[in-house]
Amino acid sequence: MPSISKKGIQMPESPIRKLAPYAERAVDDGKQIFHLNIGQPDIKTPRLALNAIRNHSLEVLSYSESSGFKSFRDKIASYYKTLDVDVISDDVIITTGGSEALLFVMGCIGDINDEIIIPEPFYANYKSFAIQSNIHIITITSTINDDFSLPDIKEFERCITSKTKAILICNPGNPTGHLYSREEINQLAQLAKKYDLFLIADEVYRDFVYDDSRHYSVLELNDMNEHTIVIDSVSKRYSMCGARIGWLISRNKTLLATATKFAQARLSPPTLAQIAAEAAFDTSIADTKETVAKYKKRRDTLIQGLEQIDGVIVSKPKGAFYCIAELPVDNTEDFTRWLLEHFSVNNQTVMLAPAAGFYANEKLGKKQVRIAYVLNRRDLLQSIHILRLGLQAYNKKK
Ligand SMILES: Cc1ncc(COP(=O)(O)O)c(C=O)c1O
Repeated sequence: MPSISKKGIQMPESPIRKLAPYAERAVDDGKQIFHLNIGQPDIKTPRLALNAIRNHSLEVLSYSESSGFKSFRDKIASYYKTLDVDVISDDVIITTGGSEALLFVMGCIGDINDEIIIPEPFYANYKSFAIQSNIHIITITSTINDDFSLPDIKEFERCITSKTKAILICNPGNPTGHLYSREEINQLAQLAKKYDLFLIADEVYRDFVYDDSRHYSVLELNDMNEHTIVIDSVSKRYSMCGARIGWLISRNKTLLATATKFAQARLSPPTLAQIAAEAAFDTSIADTKETVAKYKKRRDTLIQGLEQIDGVIVSKPKGAFYCIAELPVDNTEDFTRWLLEHFSVNNQTVMLAPAAGFYANEKLGKKQVRIAYVLNRRDLLQSIHILRLGLQAYNKKK
C-alpha cells in the first residue's frame, strides 16, 4: 500500500468528536444524549442572515474577491469602530471560518520546525493546524487552581528560542473561559515586542463576556501594529457555525500581503455564506445583549450545579461558553465512554469532552472535562443531575 505522510499519522483525532461513535450507538439504543461536549450553540441564527440568502437576486453564484467582499470587510471594520478599535477594510481578510484564518496565519509566520508558544489547555485544533503547518507548539501550563490565568510571564520568556515566531492566546478562552485582563495582555505585548514576535489572539468568543467584565483586544495595544493578529468568526457570535465564515485582522502589510497569497490559492471564501454573515452584522445590540444574558444564566446554573457535586472542582469562566471541571475519577475519557455505553437516567445521558486532548503534555488533563453550556437551563439542570448520579455509580462499581 502507498504510504501515508508522517504528519498525517501525527494528526490528532478531535477530542470533541472522537467519542461520537459511542454516542451514535447510544442513540441507536434509544437513549437521549445531552451534548455538553461540543460548542454548537442552540441559539437561533439571526433571521436577517437567513433572509439575506432567501432573498438574494444572484444569477451566478460566482467566486468573490479572495480576501472577501469589500462591503463585508467594511461592515467588519464598522463593527470594530463601535468598540473604538481602529480597523479598516484593508486590514481584514475573510476566510472559510476562523479555522482557515488560523491555518493561513501559521502558514505565513512559521517555517519547518519553527515554534509558537501557547498557554495550555488550548483549543485542540491548534495542534492540528500546527502539524499541517510543520511548526511546533510549545506550551506553558495554566492551572484550574489559578482560574487558568496567564502563567508567570517569565515562563514564557524562558521558552523563547531563535525558532520562536509567535505567542498565541485564545481570549476569552476555549476550553477554559478565561478572560485575559488588560495587564495580562500588556505583559504578553511587551514580551512580543522585546523578542519581535507576533502576538496572535483568537477572539472568536469576544462578545461572550460576563459580570460587566471588559474584553481587551490585542488590536487596542499601542505601538504593536506590526505584531498583532486577530482571528475572528461568525460561528459563535451569530450562531452560524455552518456558514464557515471567519476572518483575520492585522495592520502588518507584509503579513496581509502574504496571507492574501494563501487566500488566492483557495480562490475565495464561500459567496452565499458571506452574504448571510454580512447581514448578521446588522443584528441589534439589544439582541446580542439578550444572547449574552442567556449564556450568563446558563453559566451560573452550570457552575452552581457542579460546585454542589462531591469531589468536583470547577473554575468560574468569565467568558466564552465553556468551563473546565475536574472530576473525582482517574480517567475522564473512560468515564465519558462509560456514560454513553452503560449509564442513563430515564434513558437520558450526557456527553462530555475529556480534557486531555486540550493539553500538549500527555500527562495533564486526565481528570478534567470541558463542558460547553450551550443547552437551555432545564436541559443543563437535568445534565448536572445525570452527571452527579453517573459519578456515584461509576465510582461505586470500581
Ligand atoms: C477558539 C476557537 N477558535 C477557532 C474556532 C474555529 O471556528 P470556525 O467555526 O470559525 O472555524 C473555534 C471553533 O470552535 C474555536 O473554539
